This record gives sequence, C-alpha cells and structure tokens, in this order.
Amino acid sequence: MAQLAGRVSIVTGAGRGIGKAISLLLARSGSRVALAARTEAELDALINNAGWGRTAPVTKAKVEDWDRTFQVNLRAPMILSQMVLPTLIARGEGAVINIGSISGKTGQANTAAYCASKFGLVGFTESLYEEVREYGIKVAVILPGFVDTPLIPVTRRLDRSKMIRPEDIAQAVLFILTSSPAACPIEITVRPQRTPYT
Ligand SMILES: NC(=O)c1ccc[n+]([C@@H]2O[C@H](COP(=O)([O-])OP(=O)(O)OC[C@H]3O[C@@H](n4cnc5c(N)ncnc54)[C@H](OP(=O)(O)O)[C@@H]3O)[C@@H](O)[C@H]2O)c1
Repeated sequence: MAQLAGRVSIVTGAGRGIGKAISLLLARSGSRVALAARTEAELDALINNAGWGRTAPVTKAKVEDWDRTFQVNLRAPMILSQMVLPTLIARGEGAVINIGSISGKTGQANTAAYCASKFGLVGFTESLYEEVREYGIKVAVILPGFVDTPLIPVTRRLDRSKMIRPEDIAQAVLFILTSSPAACPIEITVRPQRTPYT
C-alpha cells in the first residue's frame, strides 16, 4: 500500500492517541512522517492533532488553563499553517488537516475553553479553505466524538469499548489526503456507532 509514496506529512501530538494512529497509518501508506519541523522545503501535509483541555466550570476555571487550551488547540495550528503554507502554495498542492471535535459544534458544561478553542478551529479551517482553495491545497477539519485515548478520563459513566478507535480518525485523515484533486472533504464528523454512556 503506497497511496502516499514520496509525500511528507507533519503530525503534531504524534506520541500517543489519535496522533500516533495517524502517523502509523500515513507511514504505512508510504508517507514520510515528521513530528515537528520548522522550515522544511518539502512539506505535503500538516496534520494539527495536538490538543489539550481541562474540565472546570467557568466560575472556577484557571485563566492559565484557558490560555494553554487556546495555545495548543488554536494558536499552534494557526502558526504552523502560516509556516508551511508558503511551501504548499509554491507547489500548488498539499493539505492542512485540523483535528477538531464535536465540541467545536456543540457547547457543553464545564468545557467552555475547550469548546471555544475547537469552535475557533472550525472557523479557522473554513476561512483558510477560502484563502487557499485556488492553489489546490486541501483544508479540512475532522470532528470526532469520544475516542478511546488518554484525553478521556476513565469513569464508570463511559464504556470505552464503545468509543471510536484512534485508527478510525486516522482513516478519515487518509481519506482526505487521497481524495480527488477536484474535491475537498472540508469537514468530517465521526461519532461512535453506539453510545458510550452507560
Ligand atoms: N479523545 C477524544 O475523545 C477526542 C475527541 C475529539 C477530539 N479529540 C482531539 O483529538 C486530538 C488528539 O487527542 P487524543 O485524544 O489523541 O489525546 P491524547 O492522547 O491526550 O494526545 C494528545 C496529544 O497532544 C499533545 N499535546 C498536548 N499538549 C501539548 C502541548 N502543550 N504541546 C505539544 N503537544 C501537546 C500530546 O503530547 P504529549 O504526548 O507530549 O503530551 C499528545 O500527543 C486533540 O486535538 C483532541 O482535542 C479527541
């Protein structure tokens, strides 16, 4: 299987969870995968996967946690996109794929900063798509529901066997990267087939 032979992909947060699954699948599909790079001359795809959040009601949350949430979930994808886009534009191809969340479409109690950062990521994705679509660059956001990774704390309220697998999100990334040059799957929502709530 070498659908991405000769391509280079940057995956942030590749050490575990969804990022690890994306890195492994892209590597198996023939892409060279970099965890971090600044001024590479050939970068075909940037996958902004790293994410962080801490649950707390707005009245009790720490502003430092809000700052960190926005830095990791929104500011970093924007800065990294800015860094790689000149190369992609010059080549007239490539992709920026952001790992958003269902929390980027629906607000929930106790996760205000996380939700706001992911809502922001959807807005950034849609705006960037409009800016670079004519250069042949794909821009997309994937919106997963519960995925069985360390991001989701173990609790009796959730049956982890019913959560999405990290590999399922990796498949969505591969689908975008291998889609026809005539099409851009700009937003993909992936939800658990069965509810993980017990
Ligand atoms: N799991 C879910 O249910 C779910 C649902 C919707 C969306 N998502 C999104 O999916 C993405 C991946 O999450 P995951 O579920 O795979 O979670 P995870 O297992 O906790 O992995 C998060 C990754 O982000 C990296 N990261 C966190 N803070 C960072 C920082 N300050 N600087 C650099 N890297 C940092 C971590 O790096 P280290 O390993 O170095 O800490 C880790 O590799 C995130 O954007 C998350 O919001 C997850």
